Amino acid sequence: MPTKAVITGIGHAVPTKVLSNADLEKLVDTNDEWITQRTGIKERRICSAEETCSSLGIEASKKALAMANVSPNDLNLIVCGTVTGDMLFPSTSCLIQAGIGATNAGSYDLGAACAGFIYSLASAAAMIESGASKKVLVIGVDTLTKFVDWTDRSTCVLFGDGAGAVVLEATENTDRGVVKTVLLSDGTGAPHINLEVGGSRYPSCSVQAEGKRSSIFMAGAEVYRFAVNAMGEACCRLLDELNMTPEEIDLFVPHQANLRIIDSAAKRLGLPPEKVFVNVQKYGNTSGGSIPIGLSEAVEEGRLKPGMNVLTVGFGAGLVWGANLIRW
Ligand code: UT7
Repeated sequence: MPTKAVITGIGHAVPTKVLSNADLEKLVDTNDEWITQRTGIKERRICSAEETCSSLGIEASKKALAMANVSPNDLNLIVCGTVTGDMLFPSTSCLIQAGIGATNAGSYDLGAACAGFIYSLASAAAMIESGASKKVLVIGVDTLTKFVDWTDRSTCVLFGDGAGAVVLEATENTDRGVVKTVLLSDGTGAPHINLEVGGSRYPSCSVQAEGKRSSIFMAGAEVYRFAVNAMGEACCRLLDELNMTPEEIDLFVPHQANLRIIDSAAKRLGLPPEKVFVNVQKYGNTSGGSIPIGLSEAVEEGRLKPGMNVLTVGFGAGLVWGANLIRW
């Protein structure tokens, strides 16, 4: 039997500050009814100035390591899926490495926006399956509220901050672990959702950046149309490749961007509500944090147990999308 990458520990961390829909009504011309009907979101967590991707990532990682009973020194690798890292460089994974004291681990960040955890998990699992690593920490984290224009009602109501982390361990003679992944991308969709200032095209404080947006831009309707297709496509492709049917899925943990998008994916797969994990009402869209936070809460709530088939799926800026099948 091939070596499998089994999740042995999981944890999550969110800021303590809550921003409700009522709070947003005081900032922009919006209301609880619109936000609830269009997105399902009731509140979200917002970082303080001191809280960052690395601080949330460190907190989530410590919980995951404790559950796995793995010492930071035993990690070979840290992969962090984020697009809102503490700095352009060094990588946030290096800051997490230092924060947890993982003295024997390599570290890298992976930029796949809201699909950051899907991509990072796939990358880490491949490192384990190839024999290159034995114990890997995978984090999905974003702090998009730091990059939101708080006068733009079309985006500021959507996002929240948060992190989730898992410990993956090489395991022999098991059918548990990351079973298969589908990863897809379409860079022609880059104009639909982006943050253009701060990279090498429009460096901050440069003449090129003048007049450019330094907050998140999103063409909501285009992203919505893409998302509805992408979620279904990634899941169906993955299940086809595995020769599995949706009935064999025990729990569906989709990216939490919008309840309507989640519902349409669940409908396409024919999954009943009790098999669909939803927490978008509490956290909004936490981008790379969304799927591992969902998995972590599902474990806490007793909805996710060893041996279950879990389907995760995400989509985001890139455009990127993908799905993982995990036998928990
Ligand atoms: O992880 C990837 C990240 N992005 C996403 O997943 C977002 C995908 N897109 C969406 O979820 C939806 O497109 C939104 C929730 C962003 C918007 O919902 P929608 O049903 O597509 O609304 P819309 O953009 O078509 O706007 C409808 C109306 C507009 O008014 P008019 O032009 O019809 O008079 C907007 O100006 O709603 C207005 N509107 C708002 N009204 C109250 C837009 N934002 C708000 C708001 N409060 N916050």
